[in-house]
Amino acid sequence: LPDAQVIVVSNREPYIHNETEDGDVELVVPASGLVSALEPITRACAGTWIAYGGGTADRTVVDRNDRVQVPPGNPSYTLRRVWLSDDEYQGYYLGFANEGLWPLCHIAFTRPIFRESDWEAYEQVNRKFAETVVAEARNERPIVLVQDYHFALLPRMIRERLPEAIVITFWHIPWPNSEVFSICPWRERILDGLLGSSIVGFHTQFHANNFTESVDRFMESRIERADAAISYGGQVTLVHSYPISIEWPIELLKALPSVEECRGRVRKRFRIPADAKLCVGVERLDYTKGILDRFHALEELFIRHPETVGNVVFLQIAAPSRGTLPAYRHLHEECLRYADELNQRYGSKSYRPVVMVAEHHSQAAVYELYRAADICMVTSLHDGMNLVAKEFVASREDEQGVLLLSTFAGASRELLEALIVNPYDAAMMSEAMLQALTMGPDEQHERMRRMREIVRDNNVYRWAGSMLLDAARLRKRGDLDRV
Ligand code: G6P
Repeated sequence: LPDAQVIVVSNREPYIHNETEDGDVELVVPASGLVSALEPITRACAGTWIAYGGGTADRTVVDRNDRVQVPPGNPSYTLRRVWLSDDEYQGYYLGFANEGLWPLCHIAFTRPIFRESDWEAYEQVNRKFAETVVAEARNERPIVLVQDYHFALLPRMIRERLPEAIVITFWHIPWPNSEVFSICPWRERILDGLLGSSIVGFHTQFHANNFTESVDRFMESRIERADAAISYGGQVTLVHSYPISIEWPIELLKALPSVEECRGRVRKRFRIPADAKLCVGVERLDYTKGILDRFHALEELFIRHPETVGNVVFLQIAAPSRGTLPAYRHLHEECLRYADELNQRYGSKSYRPVVMVAEHHSQAAVYELYRAADICMVTSLHDGMNLVAKEFVASREDEQGVLLLSTFAGASRELLEALIVNPYDAAMMSEAMLQALTMGPDEQHERMRRMREIVRDNNVYRWAGSMLLDAARLRKRGDLDRV
């Protein structure tokens, strides 16, 4: 596909321009696995990225066509911003996407909320993005990379307007089994929308299978299981798993202080006693991430192994997003309450067992934490892939540090040398924490070395490359059929 134009569509933009208190413009790279994965790809193909412009200064830096060249300082692609009204943002993003689809697709026992008005806003915003894709397309045959659950209807809408486009849709979160999916009042519309894609991709084969089962159950279609292909409405859609990854951060690592320096800086900043082991958690403040379960495991560790009190500090970085939704507000309060409780019960004047920082951190600051950590805990209750696990591994040039990883995150299918845990089992997690705290440097080295090899080889270029290769085959087959 040498000359094809690549258009990426996501809700979250890769760069947010915000106005600071003194009237300057500051640039924020959002906490989103989707963004960190897609950014290097869009740079590499000098594409166009279409996303919602949500920053307070986003409108002031675009040109007449709502475009801005990014990355700032070294522009290599176009960011085309789409504006949403308050009602659209509320209904489409907060409502249907994040109170409906998000809990529907994650097993976290948060009940999805389906409102007719949210659905209408969702449809309206998908249409708005479809029009923007058409406006940005330079010819009839672009490759459109549609990202995530915000845009289930978009593939069909693009297909109607640009029948020859290649539409690759990647669903970054899990897909539930067909029984769970069936509670969605608009299940057929969602499936019909997604089947406008040339390819629908998931992180794991398990989620790809769940999707195929949902189609089988609710749509008049023909499924060729051997080819992982679905024929529906005269069109073929491939359904595959493509495990996402990160760009191996060569430049970032070069710019970072040494592991020793990072340890010193982080310990000083958070007042962590020199002899205590540091355990970190880094994510968005989200109920799917198992943050409270991690605190529970720490408490269990202190109860079962009292000698660990005073010897371990848990540092939780939690970037707020979707914070106006009740489920997120409630989680924030619960985390603060539980952290306080643990600090009062097990802490002292010079020792706080839990440090909870609910703030956004830059990528460099996050990597500094990874390097400072003895243990990184990724204990999602359910997760598509989880790139924190892979970033932690990439950061550890010293080949030390232990990863505790939930069996319910896609990453656990690849990073087999992590200590794999069930976040619902506090006793098991506390024992894994103890194992991590007492693991010798040789074993750490061996596990970390193997995980680093895997992440370096299966990087995000390979992820995008295999999808584009499948797309090229599809286009070739389509072109041959036409001859
Ligand atoms: C998950 C989703 C992404 C989303 C990210 C951050 O990784 O799959 O689509 O961008 O969370 O969430 P937010 O709502 O802040 O964009």
